[in-house]
Amino acid sequence: MTLKKSSFLGILLAIFCLNSCSDFNSESTDNQSSSDDYTHEIDSIISLMTLKEKIGQLVQYNGSWDLTGPPSDMGSQQKLEKIKKGEVGSMLNVLSVKATREAQKVAVEHSRLGIPLIFGYDVIHGYKTMFPIPLGEAASWDLKLMEESARISAVETAASGVHWTFAPMLDVSRDARWGRIMEGAGEDPYLTSQVGVAKIKGYQGNDLSNEFTIAACAKHFAGYGFGEAGRDYNTVNIGIRELQNSILPPFKAAADAEVATFMNAFNDIDGIPATGSKMLQREILKGNWNWDGFVVSDWGSISEMQEHGFAKDLNHAAEIAIHAGSDMDMESYAYEDHLESLIKNDKVDVAYIEDAVRRVLRIKFRLGLFDDPYKYCNEEREKENIYTDAHLESSRNIAKRSIVLLKNSNHLLPLKKEINGLAVIGPLGDDKDSPIGNWRAQGESNSAVSFLEGVENALNAKVPFQKGVELSIGKRNFLEASTFNTTDASGIPAAVDLAKKSKVVLLVVGEDAFQSGEGRSQASISLAGLQHQLIEEIYKVNKNIVLVLMNGRPLDLSLYVDRIPVILETWHLGSEAGNAIADVIFGDYNPSGKLPVSFPHAVGQEPFYYNQKNTGRPSNDSHVTYSHHNDVPKQALFPFGYGLSYTTFEYDNLKLSHDVFDSSSSISVSVDIKNTGDRAGEEVIQLYIRDMVGSITRPIKELKGFEKINIASGETQTVSFTIDEEMIEFYTVNNKWEAESGEFKVFVGSNSEDLLESTFTFKN
Ligand code: NOJ
Repeated sequence: MTLKKSSFLGILLAIFCLNSCSDFNSESTDNQSSSDDYTHEIDSIISLMTLKEKIGQLVQYNGSWDLTGPPSDMGSQQKLEKIKKGEVGSMLNVLSVKATREAQKVAVEHSRLGIPLIFGYDVIHGYKTMFPIPLGEAASWDLKLMEESARISAVETAASGVHWTFAPMLDVSRDARWGRIMEGAGEDPYLTSQVGVAKIKGYQGNDLSNEFTIAACAKHFAGYGFGEAGRDYNTVNIGIRELQNSILPPFKAAADAEVATFMNAFNDIDGIPATGSKMLQREILKGNWNWDGFVVSDWGSISEMQEHGFAKDLNHAAEIAIHAGSDMDMESYAYEDHLESLIKNDKVDVAYIEDAVRRVLRIKFRLGLFDDPYKYCNEEREKENIYTDAHLESSRNIAKRSIVLLKNSNHLLPLKKEINGLAVIGPLGDDKDSPIGNWRAQGESNSAVSFLEGVENALNAKVPFQKGVELSIGKRNFLEASTFNTTDASGIPAAVDLAKKSKVVLLVVGEDAFQSGEGRSQASISLAGLQHQLIEEIYKVNKNIVLVLMNGRPLDLSLYVDRIPVILETWHLGSEAGNAIADVIFGDYNPSGKLPVSFPHAVGQEPFYYNQKNTGRPSNDSHVTYSHHNDVPKQALFPFGYGLSYTTFEYDNLKLSHDVFDSSSSISVSVDIKNTGDRAGEEVIQLYIRDMVGSITRPIKELKGFEKINIASGETQTVSFTIDEEMIEFYTVNNKWEAESGEFKVFVGSNSEDLLESTFTFKN
């Protein structure tokens, strides 16, 4: 550790190298002994700290460079005074080298112990170079590229003085109504786990102290994606086994991947707010999983335990949260105002505070902030490392791989670049902002390559455009509700005229950037405003429509799927959106994305997901009295894992090396995939397993493996997977993770419904 002249701390650390200062011994005792746990250094610091300074490490304030939650009354000057007194451990939304340096200087050079601040920010899909929204990026099923986009985001974030991102969001979500479905990897626990680990690797690298890496945050722990009716912040009612089997696996994977921090959640589960859940934070996360990072609360979630009717006042909320294992208080002002008196009144043992402080300091040590608190403050890097051509190129590459071709009748796509009579129509056709998506960090408004620009770039020519209708009207930003145009159809006639004279219409519709994201739940997943009317009018005069969708959630496409020949799902693709979509439309890239989430026939089917239970009445043998909706098919409109290519793939020869295995053996499953079309293409080979009978009811299938490969035209490749005991483990009736003996089905194919199948037995 380098001793900073300005830092009183360094000198004191050298003098005091004490051992332990706590006899705290709860379920979450901080019992890691890895070489980088900094126990001695941390104990030395703790031995020097006053109670107020300890509590200070657990306080996180919002800075004024961005606002991502309800504002508080405390002004900047007051916050600076608190930092000076050593009563603040972290800030969020302080951006730029200049701003972070100034705040850091106050902490390091003016507070008594000089403990550096850790700066956090929501870098969800890019800092300034915007990548596809996470749901879209997950559709690439390309883990390497997802790691790459996280790495680039880390480079840009670190270059701006920020140490920590509140990502990845690992909430499995089965409900298209939930606005935040755009922030995660969709409905499947396995895919979400894989994506989460890739993102953590990308953000954190192998060494948190490297100046180009940042700390990641697994959020929201836990159950936030399961709010009733897809309504944000709503109640979650699930049993412990569903929690363990469907919600926790991505978080466990994140803990195993040594994610630096966790964030808890706004929701309650089975009556206990996640922020106040001892079971989640102390027993499972810090106890069973033996994870040694720190948990930050969500914005105001400690205080919100009062509204939940779980804490009688803020004092009580602080007591519950610190006992439950919520280490850092984001914007509740509960810890700073109440922990001291709770300790003095013997309501809270100081060991709880010290455990939390130890965790926060450990991450600061791992980030190298005690070696050099200004290591992220480098103006040169800030100028050179943000929004570079190389980053934009990577964004385009990832964006084109995230696009999902849902329908392509008569091979209308790809279009020839020589085509005459192309028209771009639709409210999102020239939109340079919506592709940036919500949770855009420092992504600039209107900075994306619009669809129209992308098409014109590809053709090197002007293309006629008509908007037809406006989608959103009024203010568009993170904290204000969007309003949609439901009355002004005056642009439709001109759009119809253009469609009449065109050969092919590229019709660009979907959702505004701020239609999905936090607080953006919807009861409808149909196209908003007058978009449906526009489509109908165009369809009357020209049926050669390529429907280009830009959106942050599954949409109800039932009105279009039979009639519109081509449907292309492009999500909100980020900075290079238009270029990436044009790459696909004109065949410079053969689409390879697969849906990470099911598209239903109607919103009434939500929550809708492929890995559902069989129920006692699964089949239609009984005509009416079976589990279904009478007015729509039971299967998805577009299932999980689905996506077309410009070529075709044939699956054959599913082989198992054995049909029985036990704890000391495994089965190798192989399948041949032939590219039967006339161009090379990438395919995501998916492996699903069904446990036929369990000690609890089991899903009809569960994704357990996948591989994305490139296959030349006419070529056949063989892909193998290994089935072992771990793969079939689940949280059983015994309340533990274990594999049960019995019969299983194994499926391999190109989506969750189109599969070859075989069987095997596990004998314990
Ligand atoms: C509230 C959101 O739920 C969380 O995901 C985010 O990280 C914080 N606000 C900070 O902006």
